[in-house]
Amino acid sequence: MLKDRIQAIRGMKYFLPSQSVIWRHIEEIIIQVLNSYCYQEIKLPLIEDTSLFHHAIGQINDVVEKEMYTFKSRNGQSLTLRPEGTAGCVRAAIEAGLLYKNQEQRLWYSGPMFRYERPQKGRYRQFHQIGVEVFGLPGPNIDIELILLTARWWRKLGIMNYIDLKLNSIGSFRARNRYKTALISFLESNQNILDENSKQRMYTNPLRILDTKNVRIRRILNQAPTLHEYLDEESQDHFTELCKLLDLIGINYTIDPFLVRGLDYYNRTVFEWVTNDIEGTQLTLCAGGRYDGLVEQLGGSPTPSIGLAVGMERLVMLVNLKHTELNILDKQNIDVYLIYLVRDVQKEAIIFSEHLRECIPNIKLIINYGQSNNLKKLFSQASKKYAHIVLVLGKPEVATDDVIIKNLYTKQNQIIKKKDVVRFILNGLKKETYGTT
Ligand code: HAM
Repeated sequence: MLKDRIQAIRGMKYFLPSQSVIWRHIEEIIIQVLNSYCYQEIKLPLIEDTSLFHHAIGQINDVVEKEMYTFKSRNGQSLTLRPEGTAGCVRAAIEAGLLYKNQEQRLWYSGPMFRYERPQKGRYRQFHQIGVEVFGLPGPNIDIELILLTARWWRKLGIMNYIDLKLNSIGSFRARNRYKTALISFLESNQNILDENSKQRMYTNPLRILDTKNVRIRRILNQAPTLHEYLDEESQDHFTELCKLLDLIGINYTIDPFLVRGLDYYNRTVFEWVTNDIEGTQLTLCAGGRYDGLVEQLGGSPTPSIGLAVGMERLVMLVNLKHTELNILDKQNIDVYLIYLVRDVQKEAIIFSEHLRECIPNIKLIINYGQSNNLKKLFSQASKKYAHIVLVLGKPEVATDDVIIKNLYTKQNQIIKKKDVVRFILNGLKKETYGTT
């Protein structure tokens, strides 16, 4: 016997069936929308060479410096559990020749990501993303497409009213470097206000200070030079065109000059869909932007690129909060509840259940393996599980090839021949589910 019960590792969240059905429901909607925009799925490994993330995300930022799950493989190679999906997707696309001669690609992936962060509501060490990456299109039309696609997700999930779009342009790498110099000299002249964390970042990654939650620093930052004053002309034009198109299409957004993103590969357009409806604090549900330099940086030919990722845990939380009616999703899905009354007919019940699954491939059928022959109790168990039709097999029924059948929705009860059960079930399910026979 174990002395202490083994528990889940801190920050590794699990979802029970009542939550998983909501997760699955959301995932299906997300994938349906992706299909409608002709995005194709790519399956990627969870583990990559550590140097991939150093090259893609940058050396000096929280993810690479403090949050990666890095370990030595048995052959001594340094490996990392992916903290995000873009780097691996770009690596795979280059390796597989998908980006040869700047081909257009619209890809999506999903799965767990790992970051050693301080766990709290909506922030975990293992979390799941659905990510989207587009290659070969310089935008801003494709930037809009991604915003429209995400907006369609939110509309279909019924959360559009609880989520806001924040937008910014962080310009070219050169423009950003010029801005960094100006920002550092502003920060140097306000050093007395900075906290330890900001002081540490001042020379290495000053843009991250713009993200600070420290109210005193934020107040001072209002007087800091803004990135927009330093934008190169092309980025400025790109951003103006993007905003113009969004206005024309009627997508609401706020330009947030402090939005810089934590991963270093971005340039030009960056955006976040945020919500204030989970726990009262602002949480980013979905984030992304352009990363026109990354493919080349990782050894491919120059390829304009843009992408985004949505955090599934946060999305499930918001949908759950706003759509409590979905809580019944897990309770309404048993079509047939099969009961056998004595052990002697167990074999017939199993064979019959397999026959039904063969004839009605989408059927949701569960066998009650309990040993009770108390019909009242068994019917009540079936209705607690929201079963639709109950089939009962006893010794006499097996002998005469009959089945007792009860529709728990209409309360109709009858005995029919086994060979007629499929038709009966199909008729019964259709009538109540779709309103027709
Ligand atoms: P990210 O902003 O680091 O971007 O993450 C995207 C989303 O993943 C966040 O908005 C959030 O919903 C979710 N997320 C991130 N960290 C956590 C966490 N610790 N716990 C729960 N959820 C979390 C990226 O990962 C980029 N690769 C997105 C991208 C794709 N950019 C271009 N292409």
